[in-house]
Amino acid sequence: MAHLKGVLLAGGKGSRLYPMTNVASKQLQPIFNKPMIYYPLTTMLLSGVRDVLIISSPDDLPRFEALLGNGQRWGIRLEYVVQPEPAGIAQALILGESFIGDDSVLLMLGDNLIYGRLDFLRTAIGQNGDGATIFAYRVRNPGEYGVVEFDGDLKVRSLEEKPKNPKSDWAVPGVYIYGPGVSRRAATLQPSARGELEITDLNRLYLAEGRLRAQPMGRGLAWLDTGTPENLLEAANFVHSIEARQGLFVGSPEEAAFRMGYLSAEGLRACVDSAPIGSDYRAWLARIADEDV
Ligand code: G1P
Repeated sequence: MAHLKGVLLAGGKGSRLYPMTNVASKQLQPIFNKPMIYYPLTTMLLSGVRDVLIISSPDDLPRFEALLGNGQRWGIRLEYVVQPEPAGIAQALILGESFIGDDSVLLMLGDNLIYGRLDFLRTAIGQNGDGATIFAYRVRNPGEYGVVEFDGDLKVRSLEEKPKNPKSDWAVPGVYIYGPGVSRRAATLQPSARGELEITDLNRLYLAEGRLRAQPMGRGLAWLDTGTPENLLEAANFVHSIEARQGLFVGSPEEAAFRMGYLSAEGLRACVDSAPIGSDYRAWLARIADEDV
C-alpha cells in the first residue's frame, strides 16, 4: 500500500455556534477538557497516520499552528494550508495536492468525534487500494448528513447529500479513505447548489466507477458531531462520562503518538514538563510517562 497521509479539515463558518465562533473556529472550541481538534487528530494517529495536513480559514489557521505547532514535539509532522473560502470538503483534497503527492489519504473533519475500537478503520485503510471508502452509521436524523443506501449484500445503491427524503437511516460520518490520485479527481468536480465542492459528489464519482466501498460502523462505536450547541454539550458530556468512569483520557494526541511509537519516552517526558503544573492534562501525561496505565 502507498504511504498514508492525513488531511484534517477545520474550516467552515460554524454559524450555528455563533457567538462562540466569532473569534475562534468551531474546531478550537472545547469538548469537555480539550480542544475539539484533538479528538479527530488522535483518531488519525491511532489509525497509523503520522503526517497530517491541517486546513482552515486565513483567520484561524495561525491559531491551529499556535495550538499544535509542527508536530515535532509529538513525533509527528503537521503542515498547514489555508482554505481562502469555505468552498467545500472536497476542496481540501485539491488544496492538499502537493502534500498528498502519490499517497493514500485519510480525510477527517475536525468536528467529528469517533470513540471505540478503531480496528474497523485500520482494516479499511489496509483494504482501500486505489478506490475510496466511506463509512455508515445509523442515526435518528439522517437527512442532516450524507446518506448511503445499501442492498442486501451491502452494495451501495445510492448516496445523497442531505436528502429531504432519506432512503435509509445510514449517515456518512466525516471520515473518508482515498487511494492515490484523489486530488486530480476532486479537481474535476463542479460546485453544488450551495456553492461547495461536495465530498458526496466526489464519492459518487467513485461509486459510478464501482470503486466505492461503504462500510457500516457497528453500534458499539460512538460517532458524534458538534455542529450545534446541543451537540457540543452532548459530546462534552459523553467524554466526561467515559473519563470520569475510567480515569483515563479520551482524545489525547500525545498518548496516541506514544502508544503508536511515534513519540519516545523522553519526548513524552518533555511534553509533561511543558504542560502547566496543576493542570489535569499534565497529570495525565505524567501518568502515561510513569507507565501507570
Ligand atoms: C458534511 C458532509 C456530509 C457528512 C457530514 C459529516 O456535512 O457534506 O456528507 O455526512 O459532513 O459530519 P456538513 O458538515 O458540510 O454539513
